[in-house]
Amino acid sequence: MKDQPANFSDNMHRVDYLTPYAEPMADASSFFDPALRERESLDGPWHFAIDPYDTCLRADWYKEEYTDQAGRPYPVDFSFDEWETVPVPSCWNLLKDEWKWYEGSAVYVRNFDYAPGPVSERQFLMFEAAAHRAYVFLNGQYLGWHQGASTPFRFEVTGKLAAVNRLVVVVNNTRRPDNVPTDNTDWFNYGGLHRGVSLIRLPSTFIETASVALVPDGSFSTVSVRLTIDGEAIDGRAEIAIPELDFNQTFEVAGGVASEEFSLSPELWSPANPKLYEVRIRYNEDEWQDRIGFRQISVEGTDIRLNGQSVFLKGVCQHEESVSHGRTLTEEEIRQNFALAKELGCTFMRLAHYPHDALVSRIADEVGLMLWEEVPVYWAILFDSPEVFADADNQLRELIQRDRNRASVIIWSVGNENADTQARLDFMSRLVTTCRILDPTRLVSAACLVDPSIPAIKDRLADRLDIIGVNEYYGWYDPDFSKLPQIFANSQPTKPVIITEFGADAVAGRRGDAGELFTEDRQLAVYDKQIEVLGAIPYVRGTTPWILYDFRCPRRVNVSQGYYNRKGLLSADKTHRKLAFTAMQAWYRAMG
Ligand code: GCU
Repeated sequence: MKDQPANFSDNMHRVDYLTPYAEPMADASSFFDPALRERESLDGPWHFAIDPYDTCLRADWYKEEYTDQAGRPYPVDFSFDEWETVPVPSCWNLLKDEWKWYEGSAVYVRNFDYAPGPVSERQFLMFEAAAHRAYVFLNGQYLGWHQGASTPFRFEVTGKLAAVNRLVVVVNNTRRPDNVPTDNTDWFNYGGLHRGVSLIRLPSTFIETASVALVPDGSFSTVSVRLTIDGEAIDGRAEIAIPELDFNQTFEVAGGVASEEFSLSPELWSPANPKLYEVRIRYNEDEWQDRIGFRQISVEGTDIRLNGQSVFLKGVCQHEESVSHGRTLTEEEIRQNFALAKELGCTFMRLAHYPHDALVSRIADEVGLMLWEEVPVYWAILFDSPEVFADADNQLRELIQRDRNRASVIIWSVGNENADTQARLDFMSRLVTTCRILDPTRLVSAACLVDPSIPAIKDRLADRLDIIGVNEYYGWYDPDFSKLPQIFANSQPTKPVIITEFGADAVAGRRGDAGELFTEDRQLAVYDKQIEVLGAIPYVRGTTPWILYDFRCPRRVNVSQGYYNRKGLLSADKTHRKLAFTAMQAWYRAMG
């Protein structure tokens, strides 16, 4: 140990203070899908302090050097156990007024007890998500870091646990141009450990990932199982059981992987019949289980087919936000959002613009709603940066690994509203390839912009997609509504189109004439015209108007907006249904 306080001079002179933390990085290659595995929750009160100058990382606070070698106390700049506590999971922005707009680093600290299990047992710390970067320390040791505000990550801590453990997590939500998303978005930049933290115990050899799905060959009578194994025993036989189907089979695992198909005709999952089966897979001492629905989603020319049947995706967009909890929605709020979407007549939802909590797709499986899930490749990403690509690709891989057994998830989206440049085309085409390699059972899309010069649907990325998402705001950002029908007259897509955004802002309860901006009447007028035009386009096979309810947005500063995007069909607190809600509902209901 050095003979003077660590933070005395070093941290003053360290410019590249983050370099020592660059490795190891938690990413999709080390992620495993915990499915319904048992967890020891580490949620609850954590000591907390914002750390505007990132001093914890600069001055190695996590080492907790309180004295010199002779036991003389150092005047340290932190007091982990005396700091106030905050609930984890939560967003710091809604806990105190002075933290509302705070962007930067904050330090979370908690102790937890650990009772040793069998000697062969392995232990993992699992984080469901942390906005945006997280640096994790256990008992004074650095475990690693993760970037990406919306996907899970984990660290193996086998052999690193004591009876009482100290966990220190530095979370940083600084917006950066080289992040995914970049520093400019149309939503609120919440920060913190906004999803759960837990400890998971596993046998020395365990099922790392498992995917169980209907083979999308139109027969609805073949189920594929793919496994990867983590541990020494990489050769052996696994057993899959679906008790309700009286199905029980063993299959070979070789070199830590298995890929097998079985003849099986389960009842098919759909919004009208969200049938789920308990599936169990055993390998060695490990048992993996999940509740899985079997369905096939496909495209046929310009049509979308669910289980072979033509389907119109009656949808709506939603951000992961609530007035009281920010991004940390409660289960009750998730269910309320789904109930409101169903009241609107929806069978489908676009979860914008980043992966929402894992619980969302699990509940959608249960209640019968189809989902579009997206990674935040949003607007002007640094498309020519290999590091940025690695980040986006990693977030996509983490999302797919997390949700690939969710029947509700039918579409992976590789981004939203990006300029049609060559660098972007290359970047997003590679993301499409990642989807196809990791998951051949789902459709791939993106929310594209219209080419306003024609106007027409002319995005080059469309050739790589199964479904073309189109965002258009005619009647609002472009007040000349007559251009909307022109787009469709000028476009001959050979695949289905979903209008992934349209709409207008309206202050809840404000009335006026149909021309008056920010009134419900103006919003209604836009919806009436959109419905009239979109309803007549045969290749438009879905709509997700922007957006279910108003949401916080730091870019919206006029007095009608008040730092809210007011394009919701409902007010931010979801108590007020705007006129356009009823119009949309009537249209969806009329579709039957
Ligand atoms: C864009 C974007 C949304 C945004 C919306 C709006 O299309 O995708 O994130 O909130 O338009 O302007 O309201």
